[in-house]
Amino acid sequence: MDTLFQPYRLNASLTLANRFMMAPLTRCMAGPGLVPTEQMAAYYGRRADIGLIISEATIIRPDGQGYPNTPGLYSAEQIEGWKKVTSAVHAKGGKIFAQLWHVGRVSHSFFHGQQPVAPSAIGLEGTLPRMRDLSYPVPRALEVAEIAELVEQYAQAAANAMEAGFDGVEIHGANGYLIDQFLHHASNLRDDQYGQTPENMSRFALDVVDAVNARIGGDRVGLRLSPGAYAHMEGDTRDRGVFDYLLGELNKRTLAYVHLGIFDDSLTFDYLGGRASDYLREQYDGHLVGVGNYSAETAAEAIKADRFDLIAIGRPLIANPDYLARVKKSEPLVPYSDTMLAELV
Ligand code: FNR
Repeated sequence: MDTLFQPYRLNASLTLANRFMMAPLTRCMAGPGLVPTEQMAAYYGRRADIGLIISEATIIRPDGQGYPNTPGLYSAEQIEGWKKVTSAVHAKGGKIFAQLWHVGRVSHSFFHGQQPVAPSAIGLEGTLPRMRDLSYPVPRALEVAEIAELVEQYAQAAANAMEAGFDGVEIHGANGYLIDQFLHHASNLRDDQYGQTPENMSRFALDVVDAVNARIGGDRVGLRLSPGAYAHMEGDTRDRGVFDYLLGELNKRTLAYVHLGIFDDSLTFDYLGGRASDYLREQYDGHLVGVGNYSAETAAEAIKADRFDLIAIGRPLIANPDYLARVKKSEPLVPYSDTMLAELV
C-alpha cells in the first residue's frame, strides 16, 4: 500500500505526488456557454492531493456534445472558466489534465442543431443516459476533409487547455465515443483510408495523437482506450487486430500514459484473451493506468503484481472528496450512490 503514496515519475516533465489518479467523471454542471464554474473549481480543488486529476470529459467543439451542461474548451470564456479550476488545483500543489472529448454518434441535434457526425452512418440503439426520452439519430458519415479538420480541432483544444493552465491533456479515445467509433468494426464501415484494415481504422486515433503531441509535447499527453467494447458499442473479434496495430504504433511514440476505459476491470473479452487491462499491459510498453471497481487495497495488489502502474479512482472520489486522507488513515469511505450526482460535494 505504501507504494501508492510514493511519488511517481511519468517522464522528464511530470512527477506525480502519488500513484492515484482521479478518473474523468462527467458531472453535467457547466454554466451557460458550457463554461466551468466556481463550484467546479472548488470541487476539483478539494481533490488536489490526488497525484493527477483527469477532468470530466470536455468537448472540443459544439457537435461533440452528448450530455447536458458538459464543459467545452473551444471558446475564450471556457478557457477563462478553466483557469479558475486549474488555479484551485495548483494552489494546493495538485496536477490536472483536461480530457478532450467528441462523442461522435452519441450526440443529438437537441444540443447543437446539427446532425451528429461519425465514421459511418450507423446509429446507436437506445436512449441518451441522463436524457431518457431522447433516442439517438442516425449520424452523418464524416467527409475526409472534415476528418482532417477534427484532428486540428483536437490539437487546438489541447493548446487551449495549456492556455487554461492544465498540466496536460488526456485524449478520450474510449467508451464508444468518436475516436473509439473509428477503432471498432461495429461503427466503422468506411471503405477509404480510415476503414477496413487495422492500419486504416487506427489512422484517426494516431493522427489525433500526433497532432496533439506536435502542439503540446507527448510528455503531457495521455490516451484513454477501450479495446474491449463495453459501452455504446458492440464488440467484434476483428477489433483485436486494430488494437494490436494501434498499440504497436503507440509504442513508437511518446505519451505520458495509456489509460484503460472501463467501469469494471473484472470483465473479460474473448477476443482480448481476458481482461482489457492485461491485454494493454501485454501490448503497450509505456505507463499504464488501471481503473474499474478498484479499492486502494486491490489496486495496491494489482500494482505489486505489475498489472499496471497507476490507479484511477472514479465513483469513490465522487462520494469522498477526502478519499486520499481516509485511505491513508484506514478510515471507512462513504459509499457511492447515483443520487450523489445531483450535487458537487
Ligand atoms: C464516468 N466515466 C467517465 N469516463 C471518461 O472517460 N470520461 C468521463 O467523462 C466519464 N464520466 C463518468 C461519469 C460518471 C458519473 C461515472 C460513474 C463514470 C468512467 C470513469 O472514468 C471510470 O472509468 C469508472 O467510473 C470506473 O471507475 P470506478 O468508479 O469503479 O473507480
